Amino acid sequence: SSLTIPPPACMLRPLEVPFRYLFGPGPSNVPPRILAAGARPIIGHLHPEMYEIMNDIKKGIQYAFQTQNNMTIAMSGSGHAAMECAIFNTVEPGESVLVAVNGIWGERVAEIAERMGASVHTMVKAPGGVFTNEEIEKALAKHKPVLFFLTHGESSAGLAHPVDGIGDLCRKHNTLFLVDTVASLGAAPIFMDQQNIDILYTGSQKALNAPPGTAPISFNERACQKMFTRKTKPVSYLLDMSHLSNYWGNDGKPARLGTVSDLQAFCTGLISKTSWKHHKEVAEYLWTGLEDLGLKLFIREKDLRLPSVTTIAIPQGYNWREILQYIMKHHQMEMTGGLGPSINMVIRVGLMGYNCQKRNADLALAALADALRNCKKSKA
Ligand code: GLV
Repeated sequence: SSLTIPPPACMLRPLEVPFRYLFGPGPSNVPPRILAAGARPIIGHLHPEMYEIMNDIKKGIQYAFQTQNNMTIAMSGSGHAAMECAIFNTVEPGESVLVAVNGIWGERVAEIAERMGASVHTMVKAPGGVFTNEEIEKALAKHKPVLFFLTHGESSAGLAHPVDGIGDLCRKHNTLFLVDTVASLGAAPIFMDQQNIDILYTGSQKALNAPPGTAPISFNERACQKMFTRKTKPVSYLLDMSHLSNYWGNDGKPARLGTVSDLQAFCTGLISKTSWKHHKEVAEYLWTGLEDLGLKLFIREKDLRLPSVTTIAIPQGYNWREILQYIMKHHQMEMTGGLGPSINMVIRVGLMGYNCQKRNADLALAALADALRNCKKSKA
C-alpha cells in the first residue's frame, strides 16, 4: 500500500517563534542560561547522572519549600498535574474534602475532587476574598474533611492569602493541609515545615524561571501516612505516588519506573531563585507607577497583594480586551484579563523571576499608558 496522506508542507517550514515580553501570570520569560541548560544532551532516565541531577533538584525544592520532607519530587506536568497528584493520592472516594474558593484555583480543586468521587464542601468568597482562621476552623469542625485546600498565590485575583495558624487548626481536626503556591513560590514567603503545611506544590514556569512542564511537590509524614495506608488505588496510574516516590528513590526500594522531563533546565532555574525581597520591591515600584497612571489596584490592602501577579481593576470607559490587544500589537507584550470568577474584573500584570526588574516595570507602565491614551471608548 502507498502513503495516501502527503507530508504536510508546514513541517518543512523552519519553526518561527516570536520574542514576546511575557508580563502576564505565566509562563514568564526564561533567561538564556536556563534555556541553554534545556539544550544539553539527552541522557537516559535511569542513568546514574540522572539520579544525581534528581537528588540535586530534590535538595533545591527542599530549600525553596523550607522543608526536610523526604517525599519531595519534581513531577512532569503542569501545576494541574501536582494538584491532581495531591488530591488523587491522599483522598479516597467518598471522603470529605474542604476547599477554600476565592478565585479559579479553588474552583478547579473542587471539580477535581468531585470527579474522583470525594464528598466536596466549599467555602466561597468573591475573587480576592480572605478567609479568617475562625471561619476555617468552623468549616473544619462541621465537615470533618480529610483534606483542606487553600491557594497561597491566587493568581486570578492577585492575592497572597495568609497561611499562619491554619496548619495547626488542620492538625487539631485531623485534616491534611494542602497549599497551592504555583504563582507565589519564590516571590512571596512560605515555610512548609514551620507553617505545618502537609502537602505543598508549585509550578516551574513562574517565579522559578524554568520552562513550563515541571511541578515540584512535597508530602510530609502525615500526608505519607494517609496516602500509603489507603484501601483503594489512586484513580491515576501516572500520578500514583507509590510509583513516583520509587522513581525518585524516596521509598528505599530499587527503582522500577521512569519518567522523562526537562529536569536539567528546571534544576538550573531552581537555584537561580529570585528573592522574596526583590519581588516585593519591584512589585511596589509597579504598584506606585500604576496608581500614578490613575489606575486602581484590585486588592486594596498592600500586605495581601501577590508580589508576582498584580491585578488592576478594569478602568472605567475601557474595554479590557482592547487594551490587551493593543499592548500585544504595539508592544509585543502579554498581559492578561481575569480568569474564572475574576474575568471582566481585572487586568493582570506579572513580573516574576527573570522578568522581575524595574526596567520591565517601566516597559509595562509605558505600554499601559500608551493603551490608556489610545483605547478609550467613544461611547460608554
Ligand atoms: C495561570 O496560571 C493564570 O493564573 O492565568
